[in-house]
Amino acid sequence: MIEAVILDRHERINTAEIQARLEKVAQTGTEEPDPKLFPADEITEFIDMMQVYEGAMYEISTKLEVLDSEFHVHFSHDPIHHMERRLKSVNSILGKLQRRDLPMCTKSIRDNLFDVAGIRVICNYRDDVYSVANYLSSQSDIQVLRVKDYIKNPKQNGYRSLHVIYAVPVFLSNGEHYTPVEVQFRTIAMDYWASLEHALRYKSNLPDAKLTEHSQTLLDCARSLQNIETQMQNIHRDINGAPQQEEAPTSVNFDPKK
Ligand code: GTP
Ligand code: MG
Repeated sequence: MIEAVILDRHERINTAEIQARLEKVAQTGTEEPDPKLFPADEITEFIDMMQVYEGAMYEISTKLEVLDSEFHVHFSHDPIHHMERRLKSVNSILGKLQRRDLPMCTKSIRDNLFDVAGIRVICNYRDDVYSVANYLSSQSDIQVLRVKDYIKNPKQNGYRSLHVIYAVPVFLSNGEHYTPVEVQFRTIAMDYWASLEHALRYKSNLPDAKLTEHSQTLLDCARSLQNIETQMQNIHRDINGAPQQEEAPTSVNFDPKK
């Protein structure tokens, strides 16, 4: 059996490292209360919470691996090209709370951040994206909290991907914890495009004129890639009997705050 490649974008949880980073931004009892600091007495809770997010991430990626091998057996086709998993770093979590003017505490993370655990599923074809997302969504132990279909409705810059926030139960000694995991489903072409666009946006020091020019070119590229993808998808449909899918899963009646 061929297994989907999983790339881990982080090491397994390193308790000492999280503790050290949190201590740098922790509020101690002797200081004036500062909303920009993290409560020192919640550090252990934060670490426990990260462990739960990590568990949820592994639950979902295992489900995806199982689906991939089932496809392989039934259709002689691997829908998943590879997957990437990552947990948000302490700095990114606290940075996001600050940017959104949200309270600095574990409850606020649980209530407001849905991308602490993230998986990117890179599929071969668009049919695979929708098939895998739908099969995963129909599993009885998980909930679909939010769906954003940027494939049907690409972003203005040309970004395409299907974003689904799932809630999956993680079983601990004190019971079941439904935990959100953000999954980004995309094709190889969408991933190829998104990587370059991300580099242009975050990693370049280009002058504005160049940036505008490249952004326009990228928008053209997004359209060209979409056409190529459709043509190749059609050839693949004629060769392979795998399910044809064009619809995203639907979410339960839940609207997480952004
Ligand atoms: P944030 O997580 O704060 O961005 O808000 P959100 O969850 O409402 O955003 P959304 O679901 O639209 O996108 C979340 C993630 O998708 C980002 O962190 C990126 O990984 C990816 N993404 C969204 N838009 C773009 C884009 O225009 N370009 C690229 N390269 N990636 C994007
Ligand atoms: Mg997000």
